[in-house]
Amino acid sequence: MKKLALVTGGTRGIGAAISQKLKEAGYQVAAVYSGNDKAAEAFQKQTKISTYKWDVSDFKACQEGIAQVVKDLGPIDILVNNAGITRDGFLHKMVYDQWADVIQTNLTSCFNMCRQVIEPMRERGFGRIINISSINGQKGQFGQSNYSAAKAGLIGLTKALAQESAQKGITVNAIAPGYINTDMVQKLSESVLTQITQQIPIGRLGKPEEVADAVVFLASEGAGFITGSTLTLNGGQYFV
Ligand code: CAA
Repeated sequence: MKKLALVTGGTRGIGAAISQKLKEAGYQVAAVYSGNDKAAEAFQKQTKISTYKWDVSDFKACQEGIAQVVKDLGPIDILVNNAGITRDGFLHKMVYDQWADVIQTNLTSCFNMCRQVIEPMRERGFGRIINISSINGQKGQFGQSNYSAAKAGLIGLTKALAQESAQKGITVNAIAPGYINTDMVQKLSESVLTQITQQIPIGRLGKPEEVADAVVFLASEGAGFITGSTLTLNGGQYFV
């Protein structure tokens, strides 16, 4: 029977590439999204991947959503916590909601999702959890105190949960992508984007598929000895 992978933010951008590459690698895939119905419909039509709609920042919604996925498709073997938002701005101008929305959606969501799948994974003795962090969680970023804090938090959560889960056949890893060519990055002003691209030694933005290939590797049986790690994937922009 095919292993089941669930990808949050799985119908657009990096998440859509992850969902597709996992499908191509032979997994059954469920893609969760929260807002853009039109994009999700088009994605579902094109890929035939099952889509589910709920807000991953809401604990109860995660409980109910995952219960539905398990009922429809079976237990979750691979969880990819990819959903994320930006609300950029200087901290001295940041309002509370800009802070809280990013922490809830980018970090608390990871707890909300892991909490639902971790016990069944422990019982079954297998699991792969892959958290999509960011270069900006590693180095910090001007205008992103909220996002950098959330993405750094994901790396700490990854290391702690990896230790707790190692003896149960579950690996927990993070990927820290740099600037990848998605709607999120294209929303930056032209001058900011030019300035950032100049800082990337490889000389271009990353591709969503390049992140997805790394996810497929970390999800594989062959990656069973890798846990608690953060895979840096940023075109040479920052070395950890
Ligand atoms: N380092 C030092 N100074 C900087 C700077 C930087 N990186 N960026 C801007 N500044 C300075 C500017 O030079 C300017 O100074 P002067 O007024 O003296 O010229 C001052 O800060 C104000 O800059 P802005 O005009 O840009 O201010 P703003 O209020 O219009 O915008 C901002 C502020 C929203 C933070 C904007 O600078 C911005 O969008 N920055 C980029 C944030 C970013 O990288 N976001 C990443 C999104 S993609 C993502 O998050 C995916 C991922 O994981 C990588």
